[in-house]
Amino acid sequence: MTRLAVYPGSFDPITRGHEDLIRRGLVFADRVVVAVATQVAKEPLFAIEERVALARETVGDEPRVEVRAFGGLLVTFAREIGASVIVRGLRYVSDFEYEYQMALMNRKLAPAIETVFLVPAFDLTYLSSSLVREVARYGGDVAALVHPVVAEALERKFRPG
Ligand code: PNS
Repeated sequence: MTRLAVYPGSFDPITRGHEDLIRRGLVFADRVVVAVATQVAKEPLFAIEERVALARETVGDEPRVEVRAFGGLLVTFAREIGASVIVRGLRYVSDFEYEYQMALMNRKLAPAIETVFLVPAFDLTYLSSSLVREVARYGGDVAALVHPVVAEALERKFRPG
């Protein structure tokens, strides 16, 4: 039986931290579907098509990873694709409360789907999409934080022409 994990998020944009989590997910899952949320809490910097395209380019031709957009409830999407595991990263204690709440609600909605929290690589724990956006917005170097296609997309967004 193939074990499919879904790794959901806003991915606005995908970072080296997300890439690390995808690789870690592949340790215990046969396939990982990176699920890019159509509706996100705040107005995203990148449109859903851009977030999906950047994630696809970042993942490259890894055959065990697929990038898909999803709307509505995560558990509905997870069921549709046959995922048995939801992967989320935990960086800080401050992540915990929200993640714990979400995991319990997702379990209430879909008891057969387990949430698994993964700890990122030590040197990537400080990384988040919002910090990457802020650094790029003010002209900082994001080369070590994101795939080159994402760095280029940020450059185009903040310094067009
Ligand atoms: O990268 P983020 O913004 O922390 O990701 C949050 C995300 C998209 C995973 C979460 O908001 C989500 O699952 N949204 C879809 C709607 C849903 O199912 N909400 C959770 C119910 S508990």
